[in-house]
Amino acid sequence: MALTVTKLFLFSLLVSSAVLTAKSELLTSKPEKLTRFRVYVQDKIAGSNATVAMVAQAATTNQSAASFGLVTVFDDPLTVGPERSSKNVGMVQGMTAFASQSEVALSMSMNFVFTKGKYNRSSLTVVGRNVLSLKVREMPIVGGTGLFRLAWGYVETSTYSLDLKNGVAVLVYDFSVYHY
Ligand SMILES: *[C@@H]1O[C@H](CO)[C@@H](O)[C@H](O)[C@H]1NC(C)=O
Ligand SMILES: *[C@@H]1O[C@H](CO)[C@@H](O)[C@H](O)[C@H]1NC(C)=O
Ligand SMILES: *[C@@H]1O[C@H](CO)[C@@H](O)[C@H](O)[C@H]1NC(C)=O
Repeated sequence: MALTVTKLFLFSLLVSSAVLTAKSELLTSKPEKLTRFRVYVQDKIAGSNATVAMVAQAATTNQSAASFGLVTVFDDPLTVGPERSSKNVGMVQGMTAFASQSEVALSMSMNFVFTKGKYNRSSLTVVGRNVLSLKVREMPIVGGTGLFRLAWGYVETSTYSLDLKNGVAVLVYDFSVYHY
């Protein structure tokens, strides 16, 4: 009896692993490749046509040097060069939570949506921790759509320029992404 149950169990394991193998073969029929590219993010923090909206804050946020509890949503243009007038290739849309009580550390979730060239209608999702005092910050690429289906990798980001008078920050994002 016990033997039969064990056999049945082993058989069902074999069947389910065969199904899984068939599925992953289907998804990985193309060789995985590494793509590296750079985009600039045009972040208009304040003033007219701001691309960042302050959404919520805690009662204690104003007393926090780390702005702990602040939540913002952004919809920033992506450009090929640092100038606002350089070629636009899409948008980055997402959310920032100021998530540390002791330093300015952002918890970010964002979708890079490409609208030009071969990446048109493809997107990459980045989720991670962004400590603004670091010159270079690293965050994981956790997935993608279109040409970036099954993507994984990392981004390195740094501040290219910060113009507090006009409320404009330009950020560099260097992508290293594995996809098929
Ligand atoms: C804001 O956007 C409007 C409409 O696109 C544009 O006409 C205006 O020049 C922009 N203002 C600034 C300060 O960029
Ligand atoms: C925090 O400061 C901002 C800007 O000065 C103000 O608009 C807001 O009402 C303040 N919030 C609280 C909870 O004190
Ligand atoms: C990108 O895709 C959209 C939607 O299919 C299309 O309307 C647009 O013309 C495409 N743009 C480029 C630059 O390929």
